[in-house]
Amino acid sequence: MPREIQVAISTLDGDGCGGASVGERRVRIKNGLPGETVSARVLKRRKGEWLAEAFEIATPSADRRSAACRYFPRCGGCSMQHLDYARQLALKEDGLRQALSENGVVPVSFEQPVHGPRFNYRTKARLGVRVVGGEVLVGFRESFGNRVGRMTECLTLTEPLSRLLVPLKQLIAELSAPGRIPQVELAGGDAEAAIILRHLDPLTEADRNAIASFSREHGIRVYTQSGGYDTVLPASASATEPYLGYANPDFGLHFLFTPMDFTQVNLSMNRKLVQSAVLGIDARPGERVLDLFCGIGNFSLPLAASGYQVVGLEASAPAIERAGMNARHNGLSERCEFAVQDLYHADCLNPGQADYLVLDPPRSGAGPNLPAWLQTTGAKRVVYVSCSPASFAKDARILASAGFVLEQVGIYDMFPNTAHVETLGIFQRPW
Ligand SMILES: C[S@@+](CC[C@H](N)C(=O)[O-])C[C@H]1O[C@@H](n2cnc3c(N)ncnc32)[C@H](O)[C@@H]1O
Repeated sequence: MPREIQVAISTLDGDGCGGASVGERRVRIKNGLPGETVSARVLKRRKGEWLAEAFEIATPSADRRSAACRYFPRCGGCSMQHLDYARQLALKEDGLRQALSENGVVPVSFEQPVHGPRFNYRTKARLGVRVVGGEVLVGFRESFGNRVGRMTECLTLTEPLSRLLVPLKQLIAELSAPGRIPQVELAGGDAEAAIILRHLDPLTEADRNAIASFSREHGIRVYTQSGGYDTVLPASASATEPYLGYANPDFGLHFLFTPMDFTQVNLSMNRKLVQSAVLGIDARPGERVLDLFCGIGNFSLPLAASGYQVVGLEASAPAIERAGMNARHNGLSERCEFAVQDLYHADCLNPGQADYLVLDPPRSGAGPNLPAWLQTTGAKRVVYVSCSPASFAKDARILASAGFVLEQVGIYDMFPNTAHVETLGIFQRPW
């Protein structure tokens, strides 16, 4: 494998990587666009392909923009900073269109992409920690590899979280065994933020004191984690208050969550997504909505606040506990019921009667019970939110074979400058 190559790029994949050939060999090139001839460093071979990073662009494409972040393209946190933002949106939308067409689903209407802030949007991150030559690194993994990036700020993180990177390195360097800290998780609410410091060896008294003073100095809650999430413990006085919070002012709601709970990472885009999902239901007050994969009630509570009766189901017991607590906290208990349910399990063929379904599953999609739900629930309309266009399209095919029409669909750019995208589709049974 050569260290450096000069290639002409002919294609652009859904991850924002250019495609080229060297003889018979296919090369994927981060920071390379179609029509460009680039010099690139070959970083890895995977499944017969070379993975490379362009460092010099001889013939820049008209779609090229200079990356706002100095860690691009090496940092694996972003993949598209070199691409004009309108082209990023078009690329993501094309990916969805193609997945739908491969599954034979033709939407009645494709909505304009919905977008928001392009930087400082990210309220959650899991960062790697490594000690290299005595220096502590805290950051995203590098592209095409497992190394932790050398970074002092991150433009995708919210500013308060980004400002923590340097102090975090200093804190970890002060601990008794910096090499035994493999990762740190960051989670921010509207007002407060928290970190979870994973440690492989027991912490000393001096470590605990250093962590407590870091927490006071930076106004951040700190938790430690020696094993799974069940071993997370408060490590600072402020962390004994377990909840962070975010508001959804469109519905007059306030949500409480812990740093371990699933929450949408881009809170301003989340508001737009929730707004569209609730509008998509279009029910009469009192009608019944089943919110499947409901998490802490991010969609259930706005639906209940709009007058609907909501049942939320979800596999995570802590999330269901939080959903119930959020319903009480917002005075909506009478309109909501929540229960723990493994929705992929074979015994969950009938989650109850409902006029409307909201589905927001993990990347793998709604799972094997979807065809049964479309019969047993009696739902006439389905609002489907997905973080994977491929599994959305596969499930759209199942909905289509059950007679549902994809009335409208569109992308929500929750993760600008990365290859990730959220999709929202509204399906209607025509009878
Ligand atoms: C994309 S999140 C959506 C959560 C919520 N709707 C929100 O907006 O915050 C997917 C949710 O599915 C839940 N989940 C994953 N596998 C599941 C399963 N087999 N059965 C039920 N829920 C599951 C996760 O715990 C997570 O809360």
